[in-house]
Amino acid sequence: MSEPIQIAVVGSGYVGLVAAMCFAEMGHSVICVDNDERKVAALQGGDTLIHENHLPQLLERYRNTKVRFMTDLGEATRSCQAIFVAVGTPQSETGDADLSYVEAVASEIARSINGYKVIIEKSTVPVYTNEWIRRVIERNGVARDAFDVVSNPEFLREGTAVEDFLHPDRIVIGADSERASALLSAIYAPLTEGEYYRRSDAIPGCCSTLKPPPLLLTSTKSAEIIKHASNAFLALKISFINAVSNLCEAADANVEQVAQGIGLDSRIGPKFLRPGIGYGGSCFPKDVAAFRSVAEQMGVDFSLLSEVEKINVNQKKRFLSKVRSALWTLRGKRLAVLGLAFKGDTDDIRESPAIDLVQMFLGEGCTIVAYDPAAMKRAEAELPPSIQMSYAAGVAEAAKDADALLILTDWQEFANMDLEQLREVMRYPIVIDGRNLYDPRHMIDNGFTYLSIGRPAATPIRETATLVI
Ligand code: UGA
Repeated sequence: MSEPIQIAVVGSGYVGLVAAMCFAEMGHSVICVDNDERKVAALQGGDTLIHENHLPQLLERYRNTKVRFMTDLGEATRSCQAIFVAVGTPQSETGDADLSYVEAVASEIARSINGYKVIIEKSTVPVYTNEWIRRVIERNGVARDAFDVVSNPEFLREGTAVEDFLHPDRIVIGADSERASALLSAIYAPLTEGEYYRRSDAIPGCCSTLKPPPLLLTSTKSAEIIKHASNAFLALKISFINAVSNLCEAADANVEQVAQGIGLDSRIGPKFLRPGIGYGGSCFPKDVAAFRSVAEQMGVDFSLLSEVEKINVNQKKRFLSKVRSALWTLRGKRLAVLGLAFKGDTDDIRESPAIDLVQMFLGEGCTIVAYDPAAMKRAEAELPPSIQMSYAAGVAEAAKDADALLILTDWQEFANMDLEQLREVMRYPIVIDGRNLYDPRHMIDNGFTYLSIGRPAATPIRETATLVI
């Protein structure tokens, strides 16, 4: 049996909180530190603050027992050997990652070091960050052999974060010392040795005792690059299929068929080939920009990443043009907007293409009635209710008297709408789907004009065009 380890996790955002709860689930004792007293109080009281599957149950099970929340990083440093840093690395004006929170945490840890410690970067950081952390700690008077800095990037997705953490495709440990890599290997042993999956109450997922996740040991710098390169590559895949979808529209082909044809090649794979209104979220936009900036600083031409970004920005503009092409003029039109989160199954609206599009439509003089199953509270802070902008309690309410209905987030609920009811309440039966949730023929059969991404426009016979799929 693996030995429980005392772990500190600094930062209680998506990555930090999920890591803290999952380390507890794996059998370790965790102190989760955040300098936001209100957040700490909420977590102590059982409020997860974010919408994430399994998290409420894990918080209920471990809060104030195996996971303690506090604001005192000094105490956490003194009581734990492994200190995971999962604080924000926002984008600065130049596109670089702003590492000031990481630096502040490193200095504070340095002031409390009372024995050998391993400081682990969990936040997404540019290659060279481990060297800076090391330098900051040494500058604070800590001897070089009293600590190590390790990179252990996280690949979890919002919405499935807990499963992704406990059932990862791989665990990457970038360490330049054997002592540090041994500690990290011990922390992940319940997963890599398959013990966790033997438990009857284990959270289910794709790993098992017979198929535990592989552990990849690398240098610290390689691990830092693995994280940025993974996100940049996934963003590239999305921009690639979005560019292909534009070509499909021009050529009257069907991008879903093309994506299937490409994805069946095992060297390419079917995942992350869903066309849409562009990628968003707190990671891809920021990480692609940061990776491009790191390459630039190191004198490497990686302009491919600028193209990825350009296609992503254009995808939103193309969607706006699509809506305009369906409605002729936009000023004064009433649009039902389904989805505000940057993707389904989350309440996160950071860098959400849906929010950007709503802002663009408001700028065009449209009136918006929006509905999202989880993200409306957050959206209201960004898009306050007004004469032009309001929120509905459900799909039918949003669609009432609408000139068109726009699907902007891939929530399952939007893929199962009552089409008959929708047709009855809308002013015109026009659906413009930025996530390709419906079969165009099905929408025609239900009397809708249906425009989607990279597929021929579908219009009932009584209107002008015919459908060729
Ligand atoms: C992403 C990565 O998938 C995780 O591996 C990584 O750990 C995380 O960033 C991070 O760095 O923290 P996440 O931001 O939660 O996870 O969201 P994704 O599921 O990757 O989706 C990102 C965006 O791409 C969304 O706007 C989504 O709608 C869009 N997307 C995704 C597409 O447009 N098409 C696709 O085929 C897939």
